[in-house]
Amino acid sequence: MVRTQVVIVGAGPAGLLLGQLLHKAGIDTLLIERRSAEYVASRIRAGVLEPGTVEVLELAGVANRLQTEGLVHEGVEIGFRGHRHRIALKELTGKSVTVYGQTEVTRDLMDARAELGAPTVYEVDDVTLHDIAGPAPRVTYRLGGVTHEVVCDFIAGCDGFHGVSRRSIPDSALSVYEKVYPFGWLGVLADVPPPWTELIYAASEQGFALASMRSPTRVRCYLQCSLDDRPEQWSDERFWTEFRRRMGDDAGARTPVAPSIEKSIAPLRSYVVEPMRFGRLFLAGDAAHIVPPTGAKGLNLAVSDVFYLYEALRGFYRESDGDLAERALDGYSPRCLRRIWRAERFSWWMTRQLHRFPGDAFDSRLQQTELEYLFESRAAQAGLAENYVGLPL
Ligand code: FAD
Ligand code: DHB
Repeated sequence: MVRTQVVIVGAGPAGLLLGQLLHKAGIDTLLIERRSAEYVASRIRAGVLEPGTVEVLELAGVANRLQTEGLVHEGVEIGFRGHRHRIALKELTGKSVTVYGQTEVTRDLMDARAELGAPTVYEVDDVTLHDIAGPAPRVTYRLGGVTHEVVCDFIAGCDGFHGVSRRSIPDSALSVYEKVYPFGWLGVLADVPPPWTELIYAASEQGFALASMRSPTRVRCYLQCSLDDRPEQWSDERFWTEFRRRMGDDAGARTPVAPSIEKSIAPLRSYVVEPMRFGRLFLAGDAAHIVPPTGAKGLNLAVSDVFYLYEALRGFYRESDGDLAERALDGYSPRCLRRIWRAERFSWWMTRQLHRFPGDAFDSRLQQTELEYLFESRAAQAGLAENYVGLPL
């Protein structure tokens, strides 16, 4: 049997970042992960960081490469039926976003953890949480056929939407809010210099398309697709032809047919579980909530949860009075949920405005009038910009 202060389940960005912040505060952690380190490091996902996220990564001491290689964007473009409108993020809010891939954030965090010599166990099986309601929870897992047991003060459930942590809480203790969308996103990564300087979110008759990037030599692009589609059905040529059609104007025309180096489909979902704590188990990141990717909020929310959890745990360990120490933990879930619901609202709104939904002609006219209003009203643009750059932590 091993003892540590905090067992972190899941080595995605949430788990790795929490480990880093806690370690810097002198709090011991053990990080356990179901997949291999190589698998975790190569998962292609989010790409846009809010300024608040960058600040937390700075606090954790993992922002050096981000500061030199991250691409600072002062605006985004919204396209609608061939017309494009720039939302001047910097001018409207004083803030910019940074384009820096989740793969890079993960790599920086993995390197920092290895440098600290903090323990991470990859490729674990049968992770089980025990006694989470009481003051001495335990975690068991199997590694190479041998069962290990860890006793701790707290468990951080950072194991994503399909993880074991949320499922370890009795159903009766949780409220679930969920919306499933009738389409997915097909994403392609290609080594070609982006012919656009800022991200373009385009609504078209054929559905949504997003032009993004990862670096001055690599593009990341998405198309709204059917939930029945498979990546193999989308040859590179078919993808780029459809992408050009949806982008419409010069951006589409300038897009080269580049061979993809990754192609995958993700379904879209909004999901929140409340509260994010049960006894000594705390949920953070995708383990507690999912947003559709249209607002670029998933990774940013994982980071803000982790920041609040770090503050709660640090407050607990610094406080010698037992009641006050417990009180430091109580604020965690309400503090996170306030921010999460705002990001849920924004992500739902962006998804609603920019995708093609089956059916309802009334809704489709409302969508059109809302985008026209957005293009004409500085106040509406300021609302979008304020949410896109992220609300203060
Ligand atoms: P995760 O990154 O999911 O990490 C959880 C970790 O826990 C994983 O490494 C997993 O292997 C591990 N784990 C799971 N179960 C167990 C277990 N039982 N025991 C131990 N370990 C376990 N966001 C955007 O903003 N833009 C995007 O374009 C975008 N695209 C996405 C595409 C996909 C396919 C997915 C799934 C998500 C996407 N997201 C996107 C969301 C964003 O990537 C997530 O919000 C972010 O990864 C959340 O980080 P996390 O650490 O909470 O969860
Ligand atoms: C990316 C993904 C998003 O969901 C988004 O809104 C913007 C950019 C990306 O992967 O680059």
